Amino acid sequence: MNIKIENLNLSKKTSIITGGAGHLGMCIADKLSLCGSNLILIDLDEKSLNKAKKKLEKKNRIKVRTFPLDLTNKKERIDCIKLIKKEYKVIDIMVNSIGMVGTDNMKGWNESFENQCYDAWNKAIDTNLTSIFFLIQGIYKIMKKSKNASIINVSSIYGVNAPDWDLYKGTAINNPAAYSVSKAGLIYMTKWLASTLAPNIRVNAVSPGGIERSQEKYFIKKYNKKTLLNRMATESDVSEPVLFLASNMSSYITGQNLIIDGGWTIK
Ligand SMILES: NC(=O)c1ccc[n+]([C@@H]2O[C@H](COP(=O)([O-])OP(=O)(O)OC[C@H]3O[C@@H](n4cnc5c(N)ncnc54)[C@H](O)[C@@H]3O)[C@@H](O)[C@H]2O)c1
Repeated sequence: MNIKIENLNLSKKTSIITGGAGHLGMCIADKLSLCGSNLILIDLDEKSLNKAKKKLEKKNRIKVRTFPLDLTNKKERIDCIKLIKKEYKVIDIMVNSIGMVGTDNMKGWNESFENQCYDAWNKAIDTNLTSIFFLIQGIYKIMKKSKNASIINVSSIYGVNAPDWDLYKGTAINNPAAYSVSKAGLIYMTKWLASTLAPNIRVNAVSPGGIERSQEKYFIKKYNKKTLLNRMATESDVSEPVLFLASNMSSYITGQNLIIDGGWTIK
């Protein structure tokens, strides 16, 4: 038997990572660049982008270009697309890890049903869905020039399953409707794009379950019981399957949603 480890080699490739300064985005950036890919990191958070650039260029000996901007802002997004097209002939990989997430503190967002408001709803759809669609629309022509172009959208188990409210009782964590709706939309959009961009560009989604960071112990204990593997996810549990989908190891996979949840959603 001959396993082609070479298929994981991403040297001479360029990957765009949106939300690239975030927890998961940074870990994905590390894995892709460890396999040789140069990076274009897009995020709101300029300070974290600069830190990531310094760290990854030194550690993984690749080049990192950063774009500190608001991807939901049409002008900033269009300017970024223009610059990318000017500076790069080909883009090979795009990972969309951008997200308006549970910990964001916009008014009317992480709140009860009655208190979820119109502006927060729109911001979530704009961030988690619309900005990604229009970034792909702007970039796909230079992705088509790649030999094995791959787009991976980071959705969530809440784009697949309804929330279990019992899990959140007595915690400050909530589960806004617009989060689930935007993530479900992202899974559908992945299929639509896979069909539209085939055979040149593969498009897949990953749907992670909760990643353990510094949640309350009581929440973690309850969460663990909901999974078959009796634990929450780590950043690597999610970023390594993303690496697989980005690489030639998955060259016959497109239009799929890979659920990374320790078995939660099959119960
Ligand atoms: N953490 C989890 O348990 C979990 C579970 C399932 C899915 N996810 C998904 O994984 C992805 C990453 O989540 P995370 O937990 O690392 O969150 P995070 O907040 O650390 O990362 C998200 C990043 O997106 C950036 N961002 C948000 N709005 C932006 C905008 N308008 N323009 C540019 N950048 C913007 C933020 O600055 C942040 O760096 C998200 O899509 C999230 O929905 C996370």
